[in-house]
Amino acid sequence: MIQSPERSLAVPPDGFIRADDVLEGRLSPAEARALDLRHGNEELLHGLDLLGLAGPFFRAGPWELEDERGVRRINACGYAALPFGEMPPVLTEFMTRFLAHNRAMSLPQQSSSPWRAALQTNLVRLLARELPSHADSQVFFCSSGTEAIEGAMKFAKAWRPKARHFISFASGYHGKTYGSLSLTPNPEYQDLFSPLVPGALTSPYGDLEALQKLVRRVGPDSVIAVVVEPIQGEGGVNIPGRGFLRGLGEFCRQHGIVVIADEIQTGLGRTGHWFESAAQGLDPDIVTLAKPLGGGLVAVGATIVRAPMYKRMLGGLSSKRHSNTFGGGALAMAVGLRSLEYLIERDLPTRSRLLGEQGLGQLRALAGRFPGLFQEVRGQGLLLAMQFRPIVGLPLPGALREIVYEGTAILALRELHRAGVMANLSLSSKRVVRLSPALDMPPSIFNEMMDRVERFAQINPTSRHLLTNTPPAITARLAAFAASKPKKRTPSDG
Ligand SMILES: Cc1ncc(COP(=O)(O)O)c(C=O)c1O
Repeated sequence: MIQSPERSLAVPPDGFIRADDVLEGRLSPAEARALDLRHGNEELLHGLDLLGLAGPFFRAGPWELEDERGVRRINACGYAALPFGEMPPVLTEFMTRFLAHNRAMSLPQQSSSPWRAALQTNLVRLLARELPSHADSQVFFCSSGTEAIEGAMKFAKAWRPKARHFISFASGYHGKTYGSLSLTPNPEYQDLFSPLVPGALTSPYGDLEALQKLVRRVGPDSVIAVVVEPIQGEGGVNIPGRGFLRGLGEFCRQHGIVVIADEIQTGLGRTGHWFESAAQGLDPDIVTLAKPLGGGLVAVGATIVRAPMYKRMLGGLSSKRHSNTFGGGALAMAVGLRSLEYLIERDLPTRSRLLGEQGLGQLRALAGRFPGLFQEVRGQGLLLAMQFRPIVGLPLPGALREIVYEGTAILALRELHRAGVMANLSLSSKRVVRLSPALDMPPSIFNEMMDRVERFAQINPTSRHLLTNTPPAITARLAAFAASKPKKRTPSDG
């Protein structure tokens, strides 16, 4: 139960909130929400507030969160960036020791660092264990997934300076800064920002022939890189057919095209393998990592690059051609190092694979029992997707259909929340809600989570119930909110 604040903090209009007031719970949840609405992303929080999902939520142990009324829910959210849940003791204990004993400088941009040295060595060894061609690869650290992709794009372009096309895939998601956004073919996110990085092309995911045709049409020498998620996460957990990634790798190698495997969501165990690309027979030139690398506590991104490619961009007098202030910082590296160690100690990728198989089996059984609710369930490891039937069965024109699809997932998210499970929407897919629980979630909590998903389905045996179980006042406010949003939306996924 959250400590009730001793006094409600009246934030003085021109005053400052003290760190201790927040730490000791004197900034009430209602005040925090109001201030966030006022000075933060108002629209996003407003939408979540309509659904009762705006929080703030508080840690009730690594795998559960509680709201301001003390209601506990199992956390299967976190967008795959919480490999061990909230503030896991394995990291907080290590951080306490780090804070007491570390003497290495905090931001070693222009000097060597024992923490950075250790983490980059371990990452390369881990990758080379699966892909020996990476034994002497080099690592560039940053502070987010999108930044890891920006780095990858620059390494690739520097390698093939005369080429002009990047190829990514429909429904793919690589981030929202200008370069990565150019590779995230989603009109909802790209619309206002054209022209984006020139030369970005899109190919259908999982279709090797279409990729080959596209490359031949534009000319293989004009292609800088193919950027691929081994399993699309934000696209709604799309698993390519056998042979797609292997074939992609062989085809690109024949033509000297750089292959960038975006493992930001799949990597380090989420989909049941250390590196999903390697597991599917791809030996990429560049691998990007982020989300779980910081243990859910700090922001760490990494771009792992074959040595000659690394040196082409950063060699000789050009060592500062790509740089940042915070990448490789001691605290981030230390947490990353301990996180990686814990993943290895507990063999969490294998655990993720086995627990995921169990969870997917249970979801499939539910989908069989409730065909009016689930259109499809799929997943691998602890990245599980539920695709719902639309709440309105009638054929609808474009924009309205997209709103209905989006509404379906949002109402499902709310109903799951009410059943005691916090889940993720998918940034580039309609109607898909994902479960991405911690890789070390104990079996008893995992089983309880699946029981709650079953309860959710019993209460909502068809997707129409998602609508009828939502109070009309909430539906009306949501509809007004949806109508006020820009009309251009992600094309539907079916
Ligand atoms: C595959 C993939 N690439 C890149 C990103 C961007 O990462 P970030 O949100 O840390 O910028 C994401 C985020 O969801 C992702 O799933």
